[in-house]
Amino acid sequence: MSTKKGSETKLVGSPDQFTKSGFILAAIGSAVGLGNMWKFPYITGQYGGAAFFLLFIVCLVAVGLPVLLAELSIGRGGRGNASSSFVKVGGHKAWGGMGLLSVIGAFMIMSFYAVVAGWTFHYAVQAFSGKLFANDDFGGQFSSFISGYTPIIWQAGVLIITGWIVARGISGGIEKFNKVLIPGLLVLLVILMVRALTLPGAEAGVEFFLKPDFSRLTPESALVALGHAFFSLSLGMGAMMTYGSYVDRKQSLGAATLAIGGGDLLYAFIAGLIIFPTTFSFGIDQAQGPTLVFIALPAAFSAMPFGTLFGGLFFILLAIAALTSTVSLIEVPVAYAIERWKMSRNTAVWIIIAGCFLLGLPAALSFGLVPGLTFGGKSFFDWMDFIASNIILPLGGLAVTVFAGYFWKGIGDEAGLTGLWFRVWLFMLRFVAPILVLFVFLHSAGIIKF
Ligand code: PHE
Repeated sequence: MSTKKGSETKLVGSPDQFTKSGFILAAIGSAVGLGNMWKFPYITGQYGGAAFFLLFIVCLVAVGLPVLLAELSIGRGGRGNASSSFVKVGGHKAWGGMGLLSVIGAFMIMSFYAVVAGWTFHYAVQAFSGKLFANDDFGGQFSSFISGYTPIIWQAGVLIITGWIVARGISGGIEKFNKVLIPGLLVLLVILMVRALTLPGAEAGVEFFLKPDFSRLTPESALVALGHAFFSLSLGMGAMMTYGSYVDRKQSLGAATLAIGGGDLLYAFIAGLIIFPTTFSFGIDQAQGPTLVFIALPAAFSAMPFGTLFGGLFFILLAIAALTSTVSLIEVPVAYAIERWKMSRNTAVWIIIAGCFLLGLPAALSFGLVPGLTFGGKSFFDWMDFIASNIILPLGGLAVTVFAGYFWKGIGDEAGLTGLWFRVWLFMLRFVAPILVLFVFLHSAGIIKF
């Protein structure tokens, strides 16, 4: 089927798929998100600075890239959704069940990711209008904002924009949008990096981020680094598999894997070169956790010349990065619904967007508006993050490595690897990745503790 928009120019029945560069940019867009700009800086701050960053690179290259190539290959080989692709490349129905788990995981991540993405939009508007800097109790501003009604409006806004893009299809929607925004994001990042690196005292931040001190690492750092490599490359959620199903047979998946991994790392690297020099320059504790970018950075921007402009740009950047990821998250259940229930793209998109809104509501409200949305010491928001990121994501990743490493015979042909590279890849998929991912799972599910 072709999309509404593309149908005038395309032959009826020709598949709606990515162009070569469109695919790379869309996959980088999926990878680069709040994970790079919001989570990566605060976990690097908490788990060991430069030494943690190095560990993250090792995990990304040794485990993330092999699993990414496997996901793309399953998707393109099966040409189906994140569940049916397993079955189409010769897997038993049970593998389809594992894939379905990822579809559910993507739906759940989307529901609360849209809430945080909404915060970034609100902050962008507040920063540009100068309201954010009118009162310098940034902690108070943040908590009164997240405990009110406004986040729900922004959450709905993010979902509607995402739905509008995804409803236009792969080449006419997702690709077009990423082709403009991903290069745009790089320009914004570089502007902010130059600003951050020229602040007084920036060197101490650069040193914290780039000069490793291995005594800062703990066993936990390794598991957090690996878990984040998965999250950051959008693995284990069917997103890369679904995007893989729209890739032309002639495109090299190995080269694409390197480009996506390199892109993800580059954006995280620049994000680090913005956040750490800034926090060091202003004497802000970089290990304060999730509130770092919403509380600490506004304080820094308010004390900086042209802080309104730079603060506004920073939050716009977060918002764009978030949107290029939300489109890939929503495409996972959308592709499933189109194929499984024979829905039109439009119907599938809006039903799923509405579902995400409803599931995200208690997450958005769990910051104070509705007291009692806490179970077993975790808020509804924390539970959703915990179940999706710590349980479903590693399980989905494990399914991919085990299936690709042991069950799918034709994988080398689809991935286009032969000889030594193929053997190294298979070794990683068979022995290294599953064991490490299992550790991450057992640790993040609270089954093993250090
Ligand atoms: N990779 C995205 C980020 O870093 C998050 C994501 C996870 C997107 C899984 C799609 C699937 O923010």
